[in-house]
Amino acid sequence: MGAVKIGILGLGTVGSGVAEILLRNKKSINQKAGSRIELTKVLDKDLTRNRSVDIPAEIMTDRPEEVLGNSEIDIIVELIGGVNPTKEFVKQALEARKHVVTANKELIAKYGDELFDLAAKRGVDLHFEASVGGGIPIIKSLQESLTANQIEEVIGIVNGTTNYILTKMTEKEAKFEEVLAEAQQAGYAEADPTADIEGYDAAYKLSILSNIAFTGLVDVNDIYREGISQITQKDITYAQQLGYVIKLLAISKEVEGQIEARVHPTMLPKDHPLAQVKEAFNAVLVRGDAVGELLYYGQGAGSLPTGSAVVADVIDIIRNINYKAVNRVAANNYKEKIVKRHNEVVSKYYIRLQVENGHGDLAKTFRILENNNIGIKRVIEPEKTDEPVNLILLTRQVVEENLQRALGEVKKLREIKEISNLIRVET
Ligand code: NDP
Ligand code: HSE
Repeated sequence: MGAVKIGILGLGTVGSGVAEILLRNKKSINQKAGSRIELTKVLDKDLTRNRSVDIPAEIMTDRPEEVLGNSEIDIIVELIGGVNPTKEFVKQALEARKHVVTANKELIAKYGDELFDLAAKRGVDLHFEASVGGGIPIIKSLQESLTANQIEEVIGIVNGTTNYILTKMTEKEAKFEEVLAEAQQAGYAEADPTADIEGYDAAYKLSILSNIAFTGLVDVNDIYREGISQITQKDITYAQQLGYVIKLLAISKEVEGQIEARVHPTMLPKDHPLAQVKEAFNAVLVRGDAVGELLYYGQGAGSLPTGSAVVADVIDIIRNINYKAVNRVAANNYKEKIVKRHNEVVSKYYIRLQVENGHGDLAKTFRILENNNIGIKRVIEPEKTDEPVNLILLTRQVVEENLQRALGEVKKLREIKEISNLIRVET
């Protein structure tokens, strides 16, 4: 059995999981790969930190050139994260005709087209299964198993950290900051958790999924994005009262040749399959014209689940090398797609307004909504009190632009103290 040499960049949460799986399942992995895998060099900034896995000191280094410049290494596994210096590291590896595996969604979402082109030119593979859905094999499913379909829709919970936070806020009325700290401790959150909380991480993942699903280049900057930082315990309680749970959803659809792509908190009926997805679990619903609906579910973050996807990519590449099938699944054959303007998107909404009773009635508010074609399906009336109180409205399907115009007018009314929140509702 020939040897294939691996270099890892970054021995953090995922890097440690990858090293542990390679050690733990060495025999069966080698057998399945058809080659003996040798972990040759591991790069990390900090060589003194205690790690959850024992790596021989002689293969650890803090000098990138000892990994990237090592001519014996066949496959580079990039697990540092972010785009700097990783983009340069990955380019160097590809230029040197090394195959690359990465879990880095930011890198793939922002620079995937350039990197896939380079990989194809140099005749090497660039695999990225772990970049979306942690341990869920969603990339391979879309690229290979579902390739006969026209994909119509992809809807997912693709960020473990925010799903963990929303679950704990819903079930335990836990405080945002406390549960964020728990998610960081468990290794789910990004180095800067703003990427998770504000929906950037989910937008990177949605861009990757949309590109594959619709064989189109969906610029991540064109994806509408809202995070969960505006979600309060009050909204969660009202959602429950109305029969909903709040989830951060990543939604993309192909509608009349245009892509609708958005990431935002969403109220889902309690019996919706995605409403059952709790803690750091992820799930992706895919609808294809031939296969119908499929639901992928599993651990969306964490050391070993993510390591599982990374190591599977390594094995895949070794099989490709052994059967001279490198570049078998192209990821550089996508065409640019137009992303629908967000203000044309149609959705139902939950609106929480703070109103002051005793200073006029709410008839003006309802008149403005009606004049802007905003149909109201349900109202939770405020108590009769002099304090500002919450008025909850659930709309019918409305066009975003109309709603924003109406709320701009409503905001000016004397009896409206504040438009406190606006959350889309899926049914
Ligand atoms: P970590 O921060 O835990 O690990 C990254 C490691 O790389 C750290 O030890 C870090 O050191 C080190 N590092 C940072 N910069 C450099 C550098 N310039 N040279 C050498 N080493 C460096 O991140 P994760 O393991 O959580 O994530 C890695 C990648 O996997 C990211 O792209 C992430 O988005 C992705 N991912 C993560 C998942 C998860 O559950 N954690 C799931 C799916 C994907 P230091 O800590 O000192 O900065
Ligand atoms: N920070 C990411 C998350 C890691 O919470 O989902 C997995 O990509």
